[in-house]
Amino acid sequence: MSRLKSLLCLMALAFPVLALAAAPQPAIDKNGKTALVTGSTSGLGEVVARRLGAMGAMVIVHGLDEARGRTIAAEITAAGTGRAQFQPGDLGSLAEVRQLAARLRSEHPRLHLLINNAGIYGASDQPRRESRDGHELTFAVNYLSHFLLTRELLSLLGSSAPARIVNVASIAQSPIDFDNVMLERDYRSSTAYAQSKLAQILFTFTLAEQLDAARVTVNALHPATMMNTPMVAGIGRPAMSSVEDGADAVMQLAVGPALAGRTGLYFNQINEARANAQAYEARARQRLWDMSVGLVD
Ligand SMILES: NC(=O)c1ccc[n+]([C@@H]2O[C@H](COP(=O)([O-])OP(=O)(O)OC[C@H]3O[C@@H](n4cnc5c(N)ncnc54)[C@H](OP(=O)(O)O)[C@@H]3O)[C@@H](O)[C@H]2O)c1
Repeated sequence: MSRLKSLLCLMALAFPVLALAAAPQPAIDKNGKTALVTGSTSGLGEVVARRLGAMGAMVIVHGLDEARGRTIAAEITAAGTGRAQFQPGDLGSLAEVRQLAARLRSEHPRLHLLINNAGIYGASDQPRRESRDGHELTFAVNYLSHFLLTRELLSLLGSSAPARIVNVASIAQSPIDFDNVMLERDYRSSTAYAQSKLAQILFTFTLAEQLDAARVTVNALHPATMMNTPMVAGIGRPAMSSVEDGADAVMQLAVGPALAGRTGLYFNQINEARANAQAYEARARQRLWDMSVGLVD
């Protein structure tokens, strides 16, 4: 080997960062990593689950529609890069959330990525509904179930570090009225949805303060506006963006190298953004946290 070649080899060994600097940054390697995407039997979650599978991950597909969930999991596995399994669990029942978490802890020694994506948005004429625990259903499915699921999976995520949590919120956000959280008065499906989505962001910020960002990060985002998903079709609104746009934004938080170690952030699609002012009120965040602990315990 010439002297010059030996010198270059030594430099590459001593300064691997320099050697990598010129290369384009690939997504965080998902080979052999385990990811749970709640609500991945359709819409945004399905596309994200398929993308993670194509990157080599072990994907846990979750939702209510068991036949569809099993088909998606089988297709991800058959594609040959990653693997997938379906896990049922009604997020409108705290008992089912606990059972889901217990199954995951016993079947999976590691969990590197938790994407809290499942959500509902009632049509404008939809009357107020309650979860099996007697909580307003949109608040229960979109926020409270994910609060509990995340807490139940935190030690598994911690022991799989570095791990990430991504909360799929929305730009539709309205401040939580702590005197009427369950919307027993003045129920509107749009208020229920926007309140639950802001609750996810308050939860994200509080949890980020409690976790060591070198081990587990947690961020929230608005994926894209009015994507062509069953949710948007269900409320009778025309699609304004594609589910692929939303998946790009979720994937940035889930596997983007630039997000490594970054936590407690809110993104509007792929750009860091400011959420509704209530998310920055420490008192409101603590109040939501204490209330949530009381509701799930
Ligand atoms: N669509 C948009 O333009 C938009 C904009 C901003 C934010 N978002 C957010 O993006 C996320 C995904 O929305 P999407 O449009 O993809 O919705 P979607 O197509 O309606 O999919 C919702 C998913 O959640 C699951 N789910 C609903 N209720 C559940 C329950 N009780 N228990 C378990 N799983 C349940 C569904 O499962 P089954 O199908 O098996 O019932 C489905 O997999 C939501 O959090 C939504 O708020 C969407």
